[in-house]
Order: sequence, then structure tokens, then C-alpha cells
Amino acid sequence: MSEVTSAIEVCIAGTGSYLPERILTNAELAILVDTSDEWITSRTGIKERRIAAEGEFTSHMATHAARRALEQAGMAAEDVELIIIATITPDTPTPATACYVQQALGAKNAVAFDISAACSGFLYAMKISKRLISDGAFKNALIIGAEKLSSVTNWDDRTTCVLFGDGAGAAVLRRSEPGEGSILATEMGTDGSLTHLLNIPGGGTACPITEANANDHLHTLTMMGKEVFKHAVNRMKEAAEKVISRAGLQPEDIACVIPHQANLRIIDAIADRLAVPNERVFVNLDKYGNTSAAAVAIALDEAHRSGAFKRGENIVMVVFGAGLTWAAAAVRW
Ligand code: UT7
Repeated sequence: MSEVTSAIEVCIAGTGSYLPERILTNAELAILVDTSDEWITSRTGIKERRIAAEGEFTSHMATHAARRALEQAGMAAEDVELIIIATITPDTPTPATACYVQQALGAKNAVAFDISAACSGFLYAMKISKRLISDGAFKNALIIGAEKLSSVTNWDDRTTCVLFGDGAGAAVLRRSEPGEGSILATEMGTDGSLTHLLNIPGGGTACPITEANANDHLHTLTMMGKEVFKHAVNRMKEAAEKVISRAGLQPEDIACVIPHQANLRIIDAIADRLAVPNERVFVNLDKYGNTSAAAVAIALDEAHRSGAFKRGENIVMVVFGAGLTWAAAAVRW
């Protein structure tokens, strides 16, 4: 599903992120399960990840990230018209985590709801809100990717527990003023024939959680890593190429590629296939691991605040996750 720039242009007016204080290193994980810093670093690029405190929920992290994005955008919470949170780890099955965040921010005039598209959720939220703003339904939107993956991680499974972390990232979207940036092109896709490759089997109507299956870790993430890896490289490359082409860009026109932060080998393969030099590809997974929907949102904020791209330059974001789902966006900043 794709779109090109429509009449009312939409820009990203501010970004923010939040990471919990607690750092969990590879060395600490090597005490919990049969792994090593050498294996995790060489196979994934991850050195450490953040773990939310016990009473720290997804909505708390989302609220911190949102406040920073609003501050940068110079927007008051009561002026926000739409809040979309992308998460697979909501505070509660219902109501949506976005409702808690609306209350915490004091964004009392905003419509608020969640979407579930795993690691692709933040760019799904970007496309949805871009369209709703350009159609005139809303003047602005606060989109947030936030996850407490530590709550759905099987800490006995070395094939997954070394990969994930907690955190949140946010962006404020609004109508562009003349001379401001613009979301140039977006792409998203889904392949529901591959749900079995990456999922949380329990906790829904198909397999409600009981004491017995909780002991079997059915409420935690399972993944067929090698298969997911292959699809991730192919789908992200295709999605990025589509938005680059629709935006009328060449690889040399892109100041910064911000990919999903799951595995450094996936990121390197995509940079190579897109012919974008590694120094123009933003990486922070060494510090945070894979934070699902939050990953590209946190990376966008860190890339922006660190000066990885400037006003008027082009960036490309591209993501991939459970579903399988994928998405990309080309943005002139
Ligand atoms: O965010 C959603 C998208 N997710 C992704 O994109 C993740 C994609 N997949 C991956 O990143 C990689 O497949 C992994 C990092 C998950 C795994 O890397 P891999 O190179 O595909 O390793 P593998 O699963 O083929 O395992 C290789 C070996 C196995 O041992 P044997 O069978 O060769 O003896 C595993 O048992 O490494 C073993 N292994 C480990 N060893 C030490 C698996 N996990 C670990 C571990 N520490 N943590």
C-alpha cells in the first residue's frame, strides 16, 4: 500500500525519546543463560539494553517521550488533536495505552487509540496520521512507539532474551508551512501467511493464559530468527527502494537512513543493497537492542538531536516486524 505527496503537506515538527535507567549488559545476560558477549556482539551488534523498572509501564515511557517531542515542536498538550500509540505491550488489553497517555499529558482535546503492527507500528502510525492530516480531519498528530518488551521476554530462552529492550520514541506531525519539510512518500505491507515466524502465542482468545501455559512461557515472544532475518532484508530493501523512487530521490540524495534496530547484520545488508554508505546509516542498537515499535522512533530522535541530518535534507526510515509487517517513509526534513 503506497501513497505519494498529497495537496496538504505534512512535516515532522518535533521528536522525543525516553529510555529507562536500568542497563542490562551482555555480561549480565551471560550469567542468566548460556551465552556470551562475543556471541551477542558478533551475531547482532547489541552490547546492552534498557529494562523498565517494575512499576514503570509502557504509558509512562510513552508520556516521557511525548513530552520531549511536544517541547521540541513548541506545542502545548491541549493543542494535540490525535494520539496514536504503536505497541505490542500495552498497559492493559483495554483501554488503549494512548488513553492513559492522553490523560497523563493533559491532551484533553485529542482523539487517542493504539495500533498493533509490531516493529512496523511507528511508521504505520506515521502513514495513518499523515493521511488524516492531509485529508483535513486533524491539524496535527502525536505518534509514539513504546514498548516494555521485558514483560514478554522469556528470560530462560537465549535465542530471544538477548535481543530485546524497553523504551519509547515520539514524533509530532502537523501541516507544513511554506518552506518547511514534508513526508514525501510512505509504503507499508503485510504478509499474514508468516504469522508463525514471530509471535506471542498466548494471552489472546486463541490461547488464554492459564497457570500451566504461563509456566511454559506461552505469554512470551518466540521467533524463528533465521527465517525472519531473510524476509527482513528483502522486504526492507524493497520498501525503502519504493519510497526513494516515489520521492524522486537517488541514493546520493539521502543524508540519513534510519532502519529498524534489530540486528547490525540486517542493517549492513540493507545499506549495501541500497548503495548508501554505512556512515549515512544510523545505528543505536548497540545501546538499546530491539525495542520493537519504539526502535525507529528512538533512532529518529537520536539521529535528529545528534545532527545526523539537517533541515532541507532527505531521510529514509524503514522497518520490519511480526505479522510479518514492513513499512518505509521518505521525509524531507
Ligand atoms: O524485530 C523483528 C525483526 N527481528 C529480526 O529481524 C531478527 C532477525 N534474526 C536475527 O537477528 C538472527 O537470526 C538472530 C540474532 C536471532 C540469530 O542469529 P543467527 O546467526 O541466525 O543464529 P542461529 O539462530 O542460526 O543460531 C546459531 C547458533 C545455534 O547453535 P547451533 O545449532 O549452531 O549449535 C544457536 O543455538 O547459535 C546458537 N545460539 C546462541 N549461542 C549463544 C542462539 N542464540 C544464542 C545465544 N548465545 N544467545
